[in-house]
Amino acid sequence: MDTLNVGIVGCGNISGIYLQNILAYRGLSLRACADMRPEVAQAQAGRHEIEALSVDALLGRDDIDLVVNLTIPSAHFGVSLAALSAGKHVFSEKPLAVDFEQGRRLVDEAEARGLHLGCAPDTFLGAGGRLARQLIDGGAVGRILSGTAFLMSHGMEHWHPDPEFFFKPGGGPILDMAPYYLSTLVNLIGPVKRVVSMSSIGFPERIVTTETSPRKGERIAVETPTHVMALLEFASGAQVTFCMSWDVWKHGHPAIELYGTEGSLRVPDPNFFGGDVEITERGGDWQVRNSGEMPLGAPNWRSPNWAPEVPSKANYRALGLADLASAVLQGTPHRSSGRLGLHVLEIMHSILEGAATGQPKAITTTLERPAALADGDAAGLWKGLPQTASAA
Ligand SMILES: NC(=O)c1ccc[n+]([C@@H]2O[C@H](COP(=O)([O-])OP(=O)(O)OC[C@H]3O[C@@H](n4cnc5c(N)ncnc54)[C@H](O)[C@@H]3O)[C@@H](O)[C@H]2O)c1
Repeated sequence: MDTLNVGIVGCGNISGIYLQNILAYRGLSLRACADMRPEVAQAQAGRHEIEALSVDALLGRDDIDLVVNLTIPSAHFGVSLAALSAGKHVFSEKPLAVDFEQGRRLVDEAEARGLHLGCAPDTFLGAGGRLARQLIDGGAVGRILSGTAFLMSHGMEHWHPDPEFFFKPGGGPILDMAPYYLSTLVNLIGPVKRVVSMSSIGFPERIVTTETSPRKGERIAVETPTHVMALLEFASGAQVTFCMSWDVWKHGHPAIELYGTEGSLRVPDPNFFGGDVEITERGGDWQVRNSGEMPLGAPNWRSPNWAPEVPSKANYRALGLADLASAVLQGTPHRSSGRLGLHVLEIMHSILEGAATGQPKAITTTLERPAALADGDAAGLWKGLPQTASAA
């Protein structure tokens, strides 16, 4: 066998790029999709000439090896557990689960069954993340002592068609956006061992302003912190200032800066797969290293919500899925793993609980950094998009 047959569960907003990119990766063969709303599954199936099934029918199919869970966070646990129980490998969108114990159950279930469980994000495997990892592992900035990570914007209600879940427990900027930043930091520095945090809700109510949304004008009561600050202490001793907020109109902080014994390094936006790494030798000028020429680094995508002047970005979503399929086929570990997803989930809950109680929280899970993905191996996973591909 040189290919895993893939079934998608959850045919909403993010499914378009997965359905498109799966066609571009080796080791993956798109077979079927399902959604609790049959009409959206039917629409996506029609675009990609695959079968639209009910969730139960998809999980019952012997010819599906790998289930990609693209449902909303509160459904991740139930769908992933059902898929594992049906003997399927699983790759879940982030977070692994809403609840930490549920996340642990998924990891245990997969390991007990000898199945691969993967979890987004996989962005750290893109060219920008690989370049940052190569520079750090090569000693370009010495030992990482400290750093900063900032995701600050004014929320999701102006672009997402159905933004309510972002403002309810299980949503918020930590569970929604911190996975990108935390996975990247763990990939570069190693596991986190302790967090200290504070949080607030800047706006108790949000109004949906997405032009195309049937919910435009509706009010959403905010029930989860939308501004969260933390200090992360890594097992290596590095300390990182960490802020995720949807209460900020404008700011000037880079996504991630790391300060080492020999210099400083700026990591590109971990929500994408490419971008510039900036680096200094001690206190020298910033030197820009562009990852656009590296495998899976060229800008290839733009959001329909972006203004024309915003440049296209590298979006190779499903790279972690292709890495998982390759690992299944070769009997090796994969990188965007359930264990990494569980560690990230524990850090996120510890940040939120620590903010609520005012107490520092020790992190109980740990793991080795994922093995670095060589440029040649990344290139080997990508066969390119068919001419007819559409991400709609
Ligand atoms: N939208 C994005 O840009 C984006 C980016 C990265 C990651 N994600 C992640 O992807 C996931 C999905 O986000 P989205 O924006 O596509 O949400 P969405 O609401 O647009 O789509 C989710 C889909 O899942 C279906 N669904 C929900 N529960 C289900 C169940 N139990 N069984 C079958 N189908 C079910 C819904 O009917 C819906 O079609 C989330 O975990 C989110 O964090 C989204």
